[in-house]
Amino acid sequence: MAGSFTAHNIRLDDGSFTKPEQPYQMEDLALLKFTKQFLRILFPEGAAGKRVVDLGCLEGGYAVELARAGFDALGIEVRQSNFENCQRVKAGTNLPNLTFLCDDVSNLAKYGVFDVVFCCGLLYHLEEPRKFVDLMAQVCRRAAIIDTHIADTQPNGEFVLSEVTENEGWAGRWYSELEDDNQRHTDKWSAWSNRKSFWPMKRDLMQGLLQAGFTMVLEYPIFEPYRDLSHRATIVALKD
Ligand SMILES: C[S@@+](CC[C@H](N)C(=O)[O-])C[C@H]1O[C@@H](n2cnc3c(N)ncnc32)[C@H](O)[C@@H]1O
Repeated sequence: MAGSFTAHNIRLDDGSFTKPEQPYQMEDLALLKFTKQFLRILFPEGAAGKRVVDLGCLEGGYAVELARAGFDALGIEVRQSNFENCQRVKAGTNLPNLTFLCDDVSNLAKYGVFDVVFCCGLLYHLEEPRKFVDLMAQVCRRAAIIDTHIADTQPNGEFVLSEVTENEGWAGRWYSELEDDNQRHTDKWSAWSNRKSFWPMKRDLMQGLLQAGFTMVLEYPIFEPYRDLSHRATIVALKD
């Protein structure tokens, strides 16, 4: 069942906001500002007809703003309750180029090829991030923008993680997800079916993106007080 919005404060067409108690809205977010500017540079011919997928889109805030920027935006969200909030956003905006789907991102290949893959806050909720990086590369024509927690040699002061170990040939640390099935529904930001997620080291993630078929991989540092750049990264992977 849809409920109150947990994170995305989205401006609707009538001027109302989905999370009005929050002092900032989607358009204020540094990651969104960067993404829109970067895509304007990448596509000087304009956004019309370009497909963007927002993976694990939660309440749809990034997808809405990318649709407002002119892209054909598809948000994919596995939780029905979050998806219902996406539908409320869709109903509150006149954006024919905005679509939401309720599905697991592991089914991404069903939805065709995208000029841009936007993956924020999702990779660190997956048990096999390397396999998912391969899937993103498979469906991506031009650019992937990934914003994610990463593992570091130093312990993470905010999250409880395992010692450094290896998974899918990458170094990183395990994070424990769902304790029980009920949590699947109550914890709206968490993993869907996996009980643990693997947070790769940044080096392995960036190298893995190259090995998956991207030809250039860059990091864009977002300098904000709440961001610890040893444990969170914004990475752009490009194809020619
Ligand atoms: C930490 S939240 C990030 C939300 C949003 N992308 C953002 O950055 O604000 C993770 C989101 O991914 C969704 N999610 C987790 N696993 C998923 C999966 N396998 N398929 C689709 N969505 C998933 C969750 O329901 C949640 O909405």
